Amino acid sequence: MRLGIISALAEEQNGLIEAMESQHKVTHGMREYTEGKLWHIDAVCVLSRIGKVAAAMTASILVEKFGVTHIVFTGVAGSGDLGVRVGDVVIADSLVQHDMDASPLFPRFEIPLTGLSRIASDRDLTRQLAAAAKEFLENESGNPQTHRGLIASGDQFINKRAQLSALKDALPELLAVEMEGAAVAQVCFELGIPFGVIRTISDNANEDAAIDFMHFVQTVASRYAYGILKSFCQNR
Ligand code: ADE
Repeated sequence: MRLGIISALAEEQNGLIEAMESQHKVTHGMREYTEGKLWHIDAVCVLSRIGKVAAAMTASILVEKFGVTHIVFTGVAGSGDLGVRVGDVVIADSLVQHDMDASPLFPRFEIPLTGLSRIASDRDLTRQLAAAAKEFLENESGNPQTHRGLIASGDQFINKRAQLSALKDALPELLAVEMEGAAVAQVCFELGIPFGVIRTISDNANEDAAIDFMHFVQTVASRYAYGILKSFCQNR
């Protein structure tokens, strides 16, 4: 396995790069890729920046230039369900681009000319990420939970209750909203690369989302990413 680890922002990946042994940095296409060993796993860490295009480009380069065989995206997300609370972790079973709408040519959410609207994550990676998240969260205060299900991605920071409830009406199984996962899913699907997406909930995608998001990424996000990925790598 050669594992590509993507996050949008530095705060979502802090600690992981420092933990890498035999580091080697390569700059390509306005991003810095750090190759090395993470708890005996051959890995490449990179920050994609925010949004679907940025994430798709980063995932493609990880595969085509850095030869990764698996990809995990780790970061934060807004809650898409009342049962999913700030501090919980959501692991994607499948992902949808919530802003994909080529109707009436194709059904809403369908990626044109693929016949697909949802892309399933790799079952083994997802099971291992869920186990790692559970193990890590056991020692956290506030009784945080892990959830598995549908994550929706789009080029919008959702910060209005009405926006989220319209999305929830269209996608009732929705657990979390973010801005990159489904783009990585499409790239990995098309290139035949197993992938997983793990998100810590930073906000409720409502009018307070921006403030909650900033606070959360600075205080909690990187600790979670580090702890969960450490458990994931050590158990492989
Ligand atoms: N990432 C974290 N919170 C988010 C939100 N509310 N909308 C989109 N992406 C997010």
